[in-house]
Amino acid sequence: METQSRGRLRGGGGGGGVPSERTASCLLLTLIIGVCCVHALEMSTGKVPFLEAVNGSTVLLPCTYASCIGITNLYFKWEFNDNGTMQKMADSVIPTDHVEPNKVNVYRERVEYVGSSKENNISILLWNVTFEDAGVYICFGKNPKEKGKNHSAIFTLYVVEELREVDNTLTIMIASCVGGFIAFLMAFMLLKNFTLFVLAKIEEKNKECLVTSSGIDNTENGLSGSKSTPKKA
Ligand SMILES: *[C@@H]1O[C@H](CO)[C@@H](O)[C@H](O)[C@H]1NC(C)=O
Ligand SMILES: *[C@@H]1O[C@H](CO)[C@@H](O)[C@H](O)[C@H]1NC(C)=O
Ligand SMILES: *[C@@H]1O[C@H](CO)[C@@H](O)[C@H](O)[C@H]1NC(C)=O
Ligand SMILES: *[C@@H]1O[C@H](CO)[C@@H](O)[C@H](O)[C@H]1NC(C)=O
Ligand SMILES: *[C@@H]1O[C@H](CO)[C@@H](O)[C@H](O)[C@H]1NC(C)=O
Repeated sequence: METQSRGRLRGGGGGGGVPSERTASCLLLTLIIGVCCVHALEMSTGKVPFLEAVNGSTVLLPCTYASCIGITNLYFKWEFNDNGTMQKMADSVIPTDHVEPNKVNVYRERVEYVGSSKENNISILLWNVTFEDAGVYICFGKNPKEKGKNHSAIFTLYVVEELREVDNTLTIMIASCVGGFIAFLMAFMLLKNFTLFVLAKIEEKNKECLVTSSGIDNTENGLSGSKSTPKKA
């Protein structure tokens, strides 16, 4: 089942380095880290750390890591938060950057490791999901270079009977709302313009009336105009 490249007998010998030199570079490294790296190691479950899946389907639980100081024997594990108790699903150690782990231990059925050290990818597949699989998954990483500091990212899985088209309805709702609002605005503007126009006309007429009434009012002017003008005058 495992597809990882085995072997890579690369452990042990760290190569003879002069101790003082090492300490110096370590110090320098620590300084650099302290200055420019807030998180030496970062685990990420992606920009959208949740997924809605239909029961019976197979899902990818994504996780990647990033480290600005490089990794040595990065320990990682996947856990499932089952009602508060953590269930280990898989774990392993990545010897160093871009080297595949020797063996990935899988503690649960239907779990398959599909990561790739080349891409800093430690994702797993969960086959044939059931409703019990719904919940919070934790991608955990620990880089010994950081003296046992823990890092993790969570991914939430929702299992449904069938996918609801929530996004679509929401989009449609928003679109129709916006459309409706624009239509309303246009109608309002039209109405307003029309009202203004009518008011202007009426005013014009009144003015006309005023003008005409100020003159000799013997003409065939509107009845209402001739009626209202005497009050004002
Ligand atoms: C998903 O669950 C429903 C309800 O329990 C069931 O009818 C359906 O067969 C399941 N689908 C799969 C693919 O297991
Ligand atoms: C999970 O928690 C709920 C509420 O706290 C409890 O009713 C349920 O029995 C728990 N399930 C398991 C499998 O422990
Ligand atoms: C998933 O379900 C299919 C069909 O039921 C089955 O053939 C397959 O072996 C299952 N895979 C795993 C990993 O359980
Ligand atoms: C991680 O690897 C899996 C399996 O190859 C792939 O589907 C997924 O897209 C990869 N994730 C990232 C962030 O590269
Ligand atoms: C890191 O995680 C391990 C178990 O995974 C735990 O024993 C340890 O206390 C954690 N350390 C910190 C500083 O949280």
